Amino acid sequence: MLDFMYYNPVRVHFGKNALEALPGELSRFGKKVLLVYGGGSIKRTGLYDRIVSALRESGKEIFELGGVMPNPRAEKVYEGIELCKREGIDLLLAVGGGSTIDCAKAIAVGARTDRDFWEAFFKNWEEAHDAIPLGVVLTIPATGSELDKSAVITNMATHEKNGYDSERTYPQFSILDPTLTYTLPKHQMVNGIVDTISHLYELYISPPDEECLTDALAEACLRTEIDAARRAVIDPEDYDARANLMWTSSFALCGMLNNGKKTDWESHNIEHPISALYDVAHGAGLAVVHPAYLDYILPYAVPRLKRLAVNVWGVDPQGKTDEEIARAGVAATRDFFHALGAPVTLGELGLGEEAVDPIADLTDLSCFSYQPIAREDVVAILRSAL
Ligand code: NZQ
Ligand code: ZN
Repeated sequence: MLDFMYYNPVRVHFGKNALEALPGELSRFGKKVLLVYGGGSIKRTGLYDRIVSALRESGKEIFELGGVMPNPRAEKVYEGIELCKREGIDLLLAVGGGSTIDCAKAIAVGARTDRDFWEAFFKNWEEAHDAIPLGVVLTIPATGSELDKSAVITNMATHEKNGYDSERTYPQFSILDPTLTYTLPKHQMVNGIVDTISHLYELYISPPDEECLTDALAEACLRTEIDAARRAVIDPEDYDARANLMWTSSFALCGMLNNGKKTDWESHNIEHPISALYDVAHGAGLAVVHPAYLDYILPYAVPRLKRLAVNVWGVDPQGKTDEEIARAGVAATRDFFHALGAPVTLGELGLGEEAVDPIADLTDLSCFSYQPIAREDVVAILRSAL
């Protein structure tokens, strides 16, 4: 197990009545609140009215930044920064999914500096010294942004989708009510499930190979996620299934599953240009990329993938070589994504050979990966997914 530092300051309220905690949380912050939300689902579901009532009853002055789109854009962040600086906002309240939360995180640090937020943070990874406090009401389990410090923003001008994190970008509190996810369209729920499984894989299929508590926790998360996904597809209002999907996706990125591991985010690095170039949903892109990536690196990662196949997918090792067991686990992953209705080829995303080079050109290869790969490997991985 590698040495590590663990820290996570997010206060979590979880459950059917978690929203009742909002007034208490609001009382800890100043009067001016910027409510950040997406394309309108919170208005259709009635959540917007509940949030606005809570804000009014808490005596807050409400400002709004709606219309944050999936794969949130830099333009929206600039709009939010300008509003925060003009009005002297005391608290950002993000109500939605990863896109809304990430946009709010970028606004939080961007509004407390005179530097251009994209150049300073998302291009050059400068340390953020200050941020507007951020609270979250989560409506889609997927990214873990409600419990982590990461934000991912797309700059359409440069076709870059870049990440940033800082201890300043942790939410101060996150409200997780699984019943708020009952209204998710099935494909959005599936995108979230794929993203969560992908996060768990990125954390698990990484060195060191020796068994440790972190791996055992990741396996438990994977088994829980797979079981809950099967149940939620059959009955979207199965509370325990929704609750397990929500807590597993949050827990996956709370930092516990990084402990003692190097972590390999290569599938995410290949997916991000797909979202940035073709505005594909993050989970849909991962359903295509991640199994293809695993198939490609499999000869170098047999011990990890064999363990995953047996302990998570229940592959029977009898009469199989280690490599065959590992391959059966990757195949089970792809089959599972497909059975949920996720795309598993670039063709199903509407992309062909013409997309391969542009995606490879924009793939960040500077991060650690289980088996180091180069641009030509990215091309081969993408071609295998055509
Ligand atoms: O925009 P609205 O109208 O709210 O609709 C959203 C959106 O269209 C809809 N939705 C959300 N909750 C709903 C609902 N519809 C009905 N009922 C509900 N309860 O779902 C759609 C997708 O929302 P979005 O926030 O885009 O989804 P997600 O949470 O998957 O976020 C994706 C973004 O997060 C980034 C991704 O790259 C992508 O940009 N990521 C962020 C990470 C992080 N901060 O740690 C890590 C991830 O790996 C990921 O990269
Ligand atoms: Zn992800």
